[in-house]
Amino acid sequence: MEIRRAARALTAASVVAYAGACRIEPAPRGDAEAAAPPYQITATVEDIMRSLVDPPADAVWDAVVTEVTAAGVTEHAPSTEEDWAALRRSAIALVESTNLLLMPGRRIAAEGSRSDLPGVDLEPEQIEALRAGNPGAWTQFVSGLHASALTVLDAVDRQDVEALLVAGDGLDLACENCHTTFWYPSLADSTAESDSRPGA
Ligand code: HEC
Repeated sequence: MEIRRAARALTAASVVAYAGACRIEPAPRGDAEAAAPPYQITATVEDIMRSLVDPPADAVWDAVVTEVTAAGVTEHAPSTEEDWAALRRSAIALVESTNLLLMPGRRIAAEGSRSDLPGVDLEPEQIEALRAGNPGAWTQFVSGLHASALTVLDAVDRQDVEALLVAGDGLDLACENCHTTFWYPSLADSTAESDSRPGA
Protein backbone atom coordinates (compact mmCIF):
# COMPACT_ATOMS: atom_id res chain seq x y z
CA MET A 1 0.00 0.00 0.00
CA GLU A 2 2.71 2.39 1.02
CA ILE A 3 4.78 1.34 -1.96
CA ARG A 4 1.92 1.63 -4.47
CA ARG A 5 1.09 5.13 -3.29
CA ALA A 6 4.71 6.11 -3.51
CA ALA A 7 4.93 4.63 -7.00
CA ARG A 8 1.81 6.48 -8.12
CA ALA A 9 3.14 9.70 -6.65
CA LEU A 10 6.41 9.18 -8.48
CA THR A 11 4.60 8.52 -11.76
CA ALA A 12 2.54 11.66 -11.35
CA ALA A 13 5.69 13.65 -10.60
CA SER A 14 7.38 12.28 -13.71
CA VAL A 15 4.38 13.17 -15.85
CA VAL A 16 4.45 16.73 -14.53
CA ALA A 17 8.18 16.99 -15.12
CA TYR A 18 7.82 15.56 -18.62
CA ALA A 19 4.90 17.81 -19.47
CA GLY A 20 6.82 20.73 -18.09
CA ALA A 21 9.75 19.89 -20.31
CA CYS A 22 7.42 19.72 -23.29
CA ARG A 23 5.89 23.07 -22.48
CA ILE A 24 9.14 24.90 -21.86
CA GLU A 25 11.59 23.54 -24.42
CA PRO A 26 9.89 24.07 -27.76
CA ALA A 27 8.94 27.68 -27.07
CA PRO A 28 12.42 29.24 -27.10
CA ARG A 29 13.43 27.05 -30.05
CA GLY A 30 10.47 28.43 -32.01
CA ASP A 31 11.39 32.02 -31.09
CA ALA A 32 14.96 31.48 -32.24
CA GLU A 33 13.77 30.08 -35.56
CA ALA A 34 11.48 33.05 -36.08
CA ALA A 35 14.28 35.54 -35.34
CA ALA A 36 17.04 33.96 -37.44
CA PRO A 37 16.85 34.95 -41.13
CA PRO A 38 16.84 32.03 -43.59
CA TYR A 39 19.66 33.55 -45.67
CA GLN A 40 23.35 33.25 -44.84
CA ILE A 41 25.86 36.06 -45.22
CA THR A 42 29.12 34.75 -46.68
CA ALA A 43 30.86 37.46 -48.71
CA THR A 44 32.01 40.92 -47.63
CA VAL A 45 31.09 44.23 -49.31
CA GLU A 46 34.59 44.17 -50.80
CA ASP A 47 33.96 40.69 -52.27
CA ILE A 48 30.64 41.82 -53.72
CA MET A 49 32.31 44.84 -55.33
CA ARG A 50 34.95 42.61 -56.93
CA SER A 51 32.70 39.73 -57.96
CA LEU A 52 29.23 41.08 -58.57
CA VAL A 53 29.40 44.86 -59.07
CA ASP A 54 32.65 45.70 -60.86
CA PRO A 55 32.62 43.05 -63.65
CA PRO A 56 29.10 43.85 -64.91
CA ALA A 57 29.76 47.61 -64.61
CA ASP A 58 32.89 47.18 -66.73
CA ALA A 59 30.86 45.23 -69.29
CA VAL A 60 28.43 48.16 -69.52
CA TRP A 61 31.20 50.76 -69.82
CA ASP A 62 33.12 48.70 -72.39
CA ALA A 63 30.05 48.05 -74.53
CA VAL A 64 30.19 51.35 -76.39
CA VAL A 65 33.71 52.47 -77.20
CA THR A 66 35.12 54.92 -79.70
CA GLU A 67 38.60 53.92 -80.78
CA VAL A 68 40.84 56.55 -82.33
CA THR A 69 43.89 55.21 -84.16
CA ALA A 70 46.10 56.37 -87.04
CA ALA A 71 43.76 54.45 -89.32
CA GLY A 72 40.80 56.51 -88.19
CA VAL A 73 37.89 56.40 -85.76
CA THR A 74 36.14 53.10 -85.04
CA GLU A 75 32.92 52.77 -83.07
CA HIS A 76 32.29 49.59 -81.10
CA ALA A 77 28.70 49.07 -79.98
CA PRO A 78 26.50 46.07 -79.21
CA SER A 79 24.85 44.89 -82.40
CA THR A 80 23.98 41.20 -82.27
CA GLU A 81 21.28 39.56 -80.14
CA GLU A 82 24.06 37.81 -78.24
CA ASP A 83 25.75 41.18 -77.47
CA TRP A 84 22.49 42.49 -76.01
CA ALA A 85 21.78 39.25 -74.14
CA ALA A 86 25.24 39.42 -72.52
CA LEU A 87 24.64 43.05 -71.52
CA ARG A 88 21.29 42.12 -70.06
CA ARG A 89 22.95 39.52 -67.83
CA SER A 90 25.29 42.25 -66.56
CA ALA A 91 22.45 44.70 -65.97
CA ILE A 92 20.50 42.12 -63.96
CA ALA A 93 23.58 41.33 -61.86
CA LEU A 94 24.01 45.04 -61.11
CA VAL A 95 20.36 45.61 -60.25
CA GLU A 96 20.17 42.70 -57.83
CA SER A 97 23.63 43.17 -56.29
CA THR A 98 22.14 46.20 -54.54
CA ASN A 99 19.94 43.98 -52.39
CA LEU A 100 23.03 42.09 -51.22
CA LEU A 101 24.62 45.40 -50.20
CA LEU A 102 21.66 46.15 -47.93
CA MET A 103 21.57 42.86 -46.02
CA PRO A 104 22.18 43.46 -42.33
CA GLY A 105 25.26 41.86 -40.82
CA ARG A 106 27.49 42.03 -43.89
CA ARG A 107 31.04 43.10 -43.07
CA ILE A 108 32.88 45.62 -45.22
CA ALA A 109 36.02 43.47 -45.59
CA ALA A 110 37.54 40.29 -44.23
CA GLU A 111 39.01 40.23 -40.74
CA GLY A 112 42.52 41.71 -40.79
CA SER A 113 42.12 43.22 -44.26
CA ARG A 114 44.07 46.48 -44.69
CA SER A 115 43.67 49.39 -47.10
CA ASP A 116 45.82 49.21 -50.26
CA LEU A 117 46.25 52.98 -50.14
CA PRO A 118 46.44 53.92 -46.46
CA GLY A 119 45.74 57.59 -45.90
CA VAL A 120 43.65 57.69 -49.08
CA ASP A 121 41.32 54.69 -48.86
CA LEU A 122 39.78 54.31 -45.43
CA GLU A 123 40.52 51.18 -43.42
CA PRO A 124 37.63 48.67 -43.28
CA GLU A 125 36.89 49.46 -39.62
CA GLN A 126 36.64 53.18 -40.44
CA ILE A 127 34.16 52.36 -43.21
CA GLU A 128 32.20 50.12 -40.80
CA ALA A 129 32.02 53.02 -38.32
CA LEU A 130 30.87 55.47 -41.00
CA ARG A 131 28.17 53.07 -42.17
CA ALA A 132 27.01 52.36 -38.61
CA GLY A 133 26.86 56.10 -37.94
CA ASN A 134 24.95 56.91 -41.11
CA PRO A 135 22.99 53.89 -42.34
CA GLY A 136 20.60 56.22 -44.17
CA ALA A 137 23.39 57.48 -46.46
CA TRP A 138 24.47 53.92 -47.21
CA THR A 139 20.90 52.97 -48.13
CA GLN A 140 20.54 56.09 -50.26
CA PHE A 141 23.72 55.36 -52.26
CA VAL A 142 22.65 51.76 -52.75
CA SER A 143 19.28 53.02 -54.01
CA GLY A 144 21.16 55.32 -56.38
CA LEU A 145 23.05 52.32 -57.73
CA HIS A 146 19.79 50.39 -58.11
CA ALA A 147 18.13 53.27 -59.98
CA SER A 148 21.06 53.75 -62.35
CA ALA A 149 21.31 50.01 -62.97
CA LEU A 150 17.61 50.04 -63.89
CA THR A 151 18.26 52.73 -66.52
CA VAL A 152 21.00 50.48 -67.92
CA LEU A 153 18.56 47.57 -68.02
CA ASP A 154 15.97 49.76 -69.75
CA ALA A 155 18.46 50.92 -72.40
CA VAL A 156 19.49 47.30 -72.99
CA ASP A 157 15.89 46.12 -73.31
CA ARG A 158 15.26 48.86 -75.89
CA GLN A 159 18.61 48.07 -77.58
CA ASP A 160 19.28 51.81 -77.54
CA VAL A 161 23.03 52.53 -77.82
CA GLU A 162 22.70 56.27 -77.06
CA ALA A 163 20.62 55.57 -73.95
CA LEU A 164 23.17 52.96 -72.90
CA LEU A 165 25.94 55.59 -73.04
CA VAL A 166 23.93 58.00 -70.91
CA ALA A 167 22.99 55.21 -68.46
CA GLY A 168 26.68 54.28 -68.23
CA ASP A 169 27.51 57.81 -67.09
CA GLY A 170 24.75 57.65 -64.50
CA LEU A 171 26.13 54.34 -63.28
CA ASP A 172 29.60 55.84 -62.92
CA LEU A 173 28.17 58.65 -60.81
CA ALA A 174 26.30 56.19 -58.57
CA CYS A 175 29.58 54.37 -57.82
CA GLU A 176 31.44 57.62 -57.18
CA ASN A 177 28.77 59.04 -54.88
CA CYS A 178 29.20 56.17 -52.47
CA HIS A 179 32.96 55.79 -52.84
CA THR A 180 33.67 59.46 -52.13
CA THR A 181 31.64 59.21 -48.91
CA PHE A 182 32.48 55.75 -47.61
CA TRP A 183 35.72 54.64 -49.28
CA TYR A 184 38.00 57.60 -50.11
CA PRO A 185 36.39 60.76 -48.72
CA SER A 186 39.78 62.55 -48.80
CA LEU A 187 39.61 62.41 -52.60
CA ALA A 188 36.06 63.73 -52.76
CA ASP A 189 37.14 67.10 -54.21
CA SER A 190 39.99 65.99 -56.44
CA THR A 191 37.98 63.17 -58.09
CA ALA A 192 35.09 65.43 -58.95
CA GLU A 193 36.87 66.57 -62.11
CA SER A 194 39.03 63.64 -63.15
CA ASP A 195 38.55 60.06 -62.15
CA SER A 196 41.27 57.53 -62.67
CA ARG A 197 40.21 55.26 -59.82
CA PRO A 198 39.57 51.58 -60.44
CA GLY A 199 35.88 50.99 -60.74
CA ALA A 200 35.18 54.67 -60.51
C1 HEC B 1 26.73 51.92 -51.29
C2 HEC B 1 28.13 52.16 -51.48
C3 HEC B 1 28.83 51.71 -52.73
C4 HEC B 1 28.41 51.76 -54.03
C5 HEC B 1 27.09 52.28 -54.58
C6 HEC B 1 29.50 51.23 -54.83
N1 HEC B 1 30.53 50.86 -54.03
FE1 HEC B 1 32.27 50.04 -54.64
N2 HEC B 1 32.95 50.04 -52.74
C7 HEC B 1 32.26 50.49 -51.64
C8 HEC B 1 33.09 50.38 -50.47
C9 HEC B 1 32.69 50.74 -49.05
C10 HEC B 1 34.32 49.87 -50.89
C11 HEC B 1 35.58 49.59 -50.05
C12 HEC B 1 35.57 48.17 -49.56
C13 HEC B 1 36.96 47.78 -49.11
O1 HEC B 1 37.74 47.41 -50.01
O2 HEC B 1 37.26 47.86 -47.93
C14 HEC B 1 34.20 49.66 -52.32
C15 HEC B 1 35.21 49.12 -53.11
C16 HEC B 1 35.11 48.91 -54.46
C17 HEC B 1 36.14 48.29 -55.27
C18 HEC B 1 37.48 47.77 -54.75
C19 HEC B 1 37.32 46.35 -54.26
C20 HEC B 1 38.68 45.79 -53.83
O3 HEC B 1 39.16 44.91 -54.53
O4 HEC B 1 39.18 46.26 -52.82
C21 HEC B 1 35.70 48.30 -56.55
C22 HEC B 1 36.43 47.76 -57.77
C23 HEC B 1 34.38 48.89 -56.55
N3 HEC B 1 34.05 49.25 -55.27
C24 HEC B 1 33.61 49.08 -57.67
C25 HEC B 1 32.37 49.69 -57.66
C26 HEC B 1 31.61 49.99 -58.86
C27 HEC B 1 32.07 49.71 -60.26
C28 HEC B 1 30.44 50.56 -58.44
C29 HEC B 1 29.30 51.06 -59.28
C30 HEC B 1 28.86 50.27 -60.38
C31 HEC B 1 30.47 50.61 -56.99
N4 HEC B 1 31.65 50.08 -56.56
C32 HEC B 1 29.45 51.11 -56.21
C33 HEC B 1 30.97 50.96 -51.63
C34 HEC B 1 30.18 51.16 -52.74
